Amino acid sequence: MKKYFALTILCILTLTACNQPTAEESAYPNEVIETIMTRRSVRQYNDEPISHEVMDKILECGIHAPNGMNAQRWEVRVVESQKWINDATEAYKNSIPADSPMAEQFKDPNFKNMFRNATSVIFISHRPGPCTQIDCGLMAGNMVNAAKSLGVSSVIMMSPISFFSTEEGKPFLETLALSEGQELLLCIGMGYSDQQPETPERRYSKVKYIQ
Ligand SMILES: Cc1cc2nc3c(=O)[nH]c(=O)nc-3n(C[C@H](O)[C@H](O)[C@H](O)COP(=O)(O)O)c2cc1C
Repeated sequence: MKKYFALTILCILTLTACNQPTAEESAYPNEVIETIMTRRSVRQYNDEPISHEVMDKILECGIHAPNGMNAQRWEVRVVESQKWINDATEAYKNSIPADSPMAEQFKDPNFKNMFRNATSVIFISHRPGPCTQIDCGLMAGNMVNAAKSLGVSSVIMMSPISFFSTEEGKPFLETLALSEGQELLLCIGMGYSDQQPETPERRYSKVKYIQ
């Protein structure tokens, strides 16, 4: 009797262990879903640069995003120059009144630059049209998920964009050499993460099936 009891316990333990994800086995059904679910906006980076081999893959995934009528009314610029990033940040600081709420960020001891401390910045512009903001958003989405899958962290940003239409920002915009009619829409800070952000709450109640 004791023998049967021990055998039953052993079977239960074995079956339970089989249902637990192992180190190799993810809690997600596949790698794409794992990448999407575990990507987070990162705002602290170390100094490691992103190789062109890796960046080229991220950019390629971006331009393969769906876009209205495949018109591709976008342009992409990748700024890798730390001098450019630091100089733009200095000019940005000078363009903001010291008593503005926007100036609070400069007091953060971890503040490195205006692009949430990223090491590279991807700028995405569009020639405005009915679908182009959506197109650029989808492009950015592909880029951040591709980056995540390659171990690169990122943050999509719109707040730095208004700086590039100020007197202080215009010289930096010119160096991006965008084509006539192109307008900057958003940028993506990228680099290797120096933080592990929590997952911000998602409201599942926003989604409903209509049956
Ligand atoms: C269109 C857009 C604009 C954003 N602009 C900024 C920004 O200017 N600064 C910033 O720190 N984060 C910005 N974010 C990042 C969001 O704050 C972030 O995606 C959101 O809080 C959810 O967090 P998660 O990306 O970690 O899931 C932006 C995201 C999107 C999609």
